[in-house]
Amino acid sequence: MKDFQKLDDFLEFGWAQIYRGKADKKSPARHPTFVTSSIDGFPNARTLVMRRCDKKNSKIEFHTDTASSKMFALKENPRAGIHIWLPKVQLQIQMEVIVQVKVGDITIPYWRDVPTNSRVAYGTIPSPGTAIESPLAYNHKPDQKRFAVLVCDIQSIQLLLLGVKHIRAHYKKSTNWQGEWLSP
Ligand SMILES: Cc1cc2nc3c(=O)[nH]c(=O)nc-3n(C[C@H](O)[C@H](O)[C@H](O)COP(=O)(O)O)c2cc1C
Repeated sequence: MKDFQKLDDFLEFGWAQIYRGKADKKSPARHPTFVTSSIDGFPNARTLVMRRCDKKNSKIEFHTDTASSKMFALKENPRAGIHIWLPKVQLQIQMEVIVQVKVGDITIPYWRDVPTNSRVAYGTIPSPGTAIESPLAYNHKPDQKRFAVLVCDIQSIQLLLLGVKHIRAHYKKSTNWQGEWLSP
């Protein structure tokens, strides 16, 4: 087990795991759980593919369908949570984010980079989550206008490393990621 004495080293380790989600298709960091709060008060959690991460600007990006329920939730409340569990290194990462939703022409450069066979995820008819008569009673109509980029501005990162002795720390953007140790 790694023995972290410095908050900075621990955060660096956390970010290295997040970046693995881009570099390594098998890393669980590729598929974070993205949590929004719904209008009825229940939190909604779902898996998304992490499309981009940027430590320097503390950002993480996802892509989604503009007609999906998370879009309505984000309109009401742009605050969201991200959760990643990395069993190999026994690390849990939790983030609080504020989501900027990009839709329309601004997403065209992103859309160009989406492989053709992946575009079917944006434009399902009827809209995702609509009740249908039978399991396959839907069609794909890939549509750039149904494509949204969720740019998540990370406000806080919490790390929990399991070991003989667990290690936990909390870092906030508001304190320039200085961090503090927490009792696990
Ligand atoms: C492995 C995996 C990856 C997924 N990746 C995405 C994704 O990148 N974007 C997306 O919108 N939905 C993705 N989904 C589907 C979502 O989990 C979710 O079902 C869908 O976005 C509708 O969510 P909502 O109705 O809560 O908005 C993925 C699901 C799985 C199981």
